[in-house]
Amino acid sequence: MKSILDFQDKKNKKQKISMITCYDYSFAQIVAESNIDCILIGDSLANTMHGFPTTLPATVEMMALHTAAVARGAGTKKFITADFPFMSNRKGLTAVMNAAEKIMQAGAHALKLEGGDEYTYKIVRHLVDSGVPIMGHLGLTPQSVNQLGGFKVQGRDDKAQAKIREQALRLQEAGAFCIVLECVPSKLAAEITHSLDVPTIGIGAGSDTDGQVLVLQDLLGMNPGFKPKFVKTYFNGFEALKEAFNTYHSEVEGVDFPSEKESYS
Ligand code: KIV
Repeated sequence: MKSILDFQDKKNKKQKISMITCYDYSFAQIVAESNIDCILIGDSLANTMHGFPTTLPATVEMMALHTAAVARGAGTKKFITADFPFMSNRKGLTAVMNAAEKIMQAGAHALKLEGGDEYTYKIVRHLVDSGVPIMGHLGLTPQSVNQLGGFKVQGRDDKAQAKIREQALRLQEAGAFCIVLECVPSKLAAEITHSLDVPTIGIGAGSDTDGQVLVLQDLLGMNPGFKPKFVKTYFNGFEALKEAFNTYHSEVEGVDFPSEKESYS
């Protein structure tokens, strides 16, 4: 996928959208050669790349640095969305626009921001009018983990469901080209998906959303201690890489590496 028009096109054709997070040059090169539709430089980089327990420590500078690395790795092959990190979209219009400028100039084609309230709709409208495509993010919004009382499924009761439905419509009205739905009951995600013109991308939101997103490290099984219900691991990355490291170590110890093949005559 190369532009926001492809997102709408996929929804119209009832084709699913696959998105994966990516934070560095090496993995971006691999994702760029894969069939995955698009890349998200999530503020989950605070967890996956920097080892923090939440996404709150991510900054605009971190987002721009990782976005630039991914953009260099992916070239022009994939559509790249990057997150507004914690607070960067809440400190007034000038601060929002400065953050958007930095991350877009680093190579993002669109930005994602969490939440749905009057302030967010205004910001989204202004960004969209300024030429910045915006992906919304509703349900479990990890930047609000402290307000939500933990990483919990959202939209469990009627009132909470009505609120998320309304937020999705308001984000669409404000100009969002796509909305991520995180950790909400499948039925709610399906209803929202059918009620919107723009596509939804789910994570822990069942199979009826217009697309799915997974964190790259989760998909590759890089963090065996972290296995929420919605994650499917497609590779035992932790063990496979550990085995490669151990083989290298053994070969160094046994003087099997370097052999003549890796040495200069
Ligand atoms: O930061 C992130 O990785 C995300 C996805 C989980 C949607 O926002």
